[in-house]
Amino acid sequence: MPGGIDPHTHFELEMMGAKCADDFYKGTRAAVAGGTTCVIDFVLPQKGQSLLEAYNNWREKADGKVCCDYGLHVGVTWWSPAVKKEMQQLTSEQYGVNSFKMFMAYKDAWMLDDYDLYCAMETCAELKALPQVHAENGHIIARNTEKLLAKGVTGPEGHQLSRDEEVEAEAVNRACAGAPLYIVHMMSKSAVRALQLARTRQRHALIGETLAATVGTDGTHYGNACFRHAAAHVLSPPLRPDPSTPQAMCEALADDHLQLIGSDNCTFHEKDKQLGKGNFSKIPNGVNGVEDRMAILWQKAVNTGIMDPCRFVAVTSSNAAKVFNIWPQKGRIAVNSDADIVVWDPKLERTISAANHKQAVDFNIFEGQHVVGSPQYVVVNGRVCLDDGELRVVEGFGKFLKTPVESPLIYDGHQSQEEAPHRPEFLEAPVRVTNGTPSPDLG
Ligand code: URP
Ligand code: ZN
Ligand code: ZN
Ligand code: ZN
Repeated sequence: MPGGIDPHTHFELEMMGAKCADDFYKGTRAAVAGGTTCVIDFVLPQKGQSLLEAYNNWREKADGKVCCDYGLHVGVTWWSPAVKKEMQQLTSEQYGVNSFKMFMAYKDAWMLDDYDLYCAMETCAELKALPQVHAENGHIIARNTEKLLAKGVTGPEGHQLSRDEEVEAEAVNRACAGAPLYIVHMMSKSAVRALQLARTRQRHALIGETLAATVGTDGTHYGNACFRHAAAHVLSPPLRPDPSTPQAMCEALADDHLQLIGSDNCTFHEKDKQLGKGNFSKIPNGVNGVEDRMAILWQKAVNTGIMDPCRFVAVTSSNAAKVFNIWPQKGRIAVNSDADIVVWDPKLERTISAANHKQAVDFNIFEGQHVVGSPQYVVVNGRVCLDDGELRVVEGFGKFLKTPVESPLIYDGHQSQEEAPHRPEFLEAPVRVTNGTPSPDLG
């Protein structure tokens, strides 16, 4: 199958007073070990920081370290005319960015209010770039957090209590506001329902991504008596206590209610998670997944019969290539495509553990899970980097991958003003939702 594409990683990110355990070397090395040959990471500027400056920082961190090709999304964490101008520059050939992430949560850090969010989305539509949102209501979370802490709920269980499914679904609904949109890390059945409902009233492409974490584990871990264990599972939006969630997310991926699975790999060592001891809102947010994303989905969705192998390729690889406009260079095995190839052994058995994973982080949220199906060979740009189970990556072998704007998947089928005379300009740009059926030719 074509090499996996992880559309959502955070390597060497500094957030909530800590720095991610996985850097661009160890993170991409782990990616390759698990069958992923391309990642798209997030440049996240500080409020007030130049987006171009942050982009250059990320390039400096990643170039020379990555073991496979990588692209970049850029966060729009504050708003001004200068930011709008920089978004325009970033989408040029020189920089090669075609997607921007806006946060509806993280109130005192990256959150945009609705006016700024819509300005940013409008700018994306003008540029034929793709807006991405972190969909959670940051104000509700902030108020619930105050109330929980006042009541003495300070442990990791407070994380999910402060932001239940409705907090996510409300933001999904609000974000589907008349422009094409990619919703990152969808973590609940309520959020998927909100997206499905929006599709019935909106003709623009609405793309939904879920995570290996949601498919592979659940929110019951927040009740674990061990702080380290519970805190290790803290990410946003949180894992859900509803035990039917993992299977429902697999079905949503299989049924094309969701189109991609990422990892949101954003790992913190135990010592960093300890920053939130006594106040759950200070636990650095994020979990592992870049290494185990493909095996976890194979185990939970293919081995169970929920999803066929062709759809597995679509949601782990080719859909990401199409959405981010790098198909057929990536996400396809063909003459003239990059030779990113995985030979997958559906019978290979192993037990996931932090004791032998390739990631730098000292915990694995899938610890102890037995999976059947893993990569045997992984070819990165023509070079065998996993050789019958032996990892032979080369630091710096990967290249920066430019993602051009105007993805046909998002922006094809544009209706003219004549065909849709009642649509205001902002609602005009994109039209056709081609979320796609399983690719019969494996991408
Ligand atoms: O908890 C998470 N998801 N951490 C990474 C940052 C983000 O919101 O994607
Ligand atoms: Zn997010
Ligand atoms: Zn524990
Ligand atoms: Zn993320």
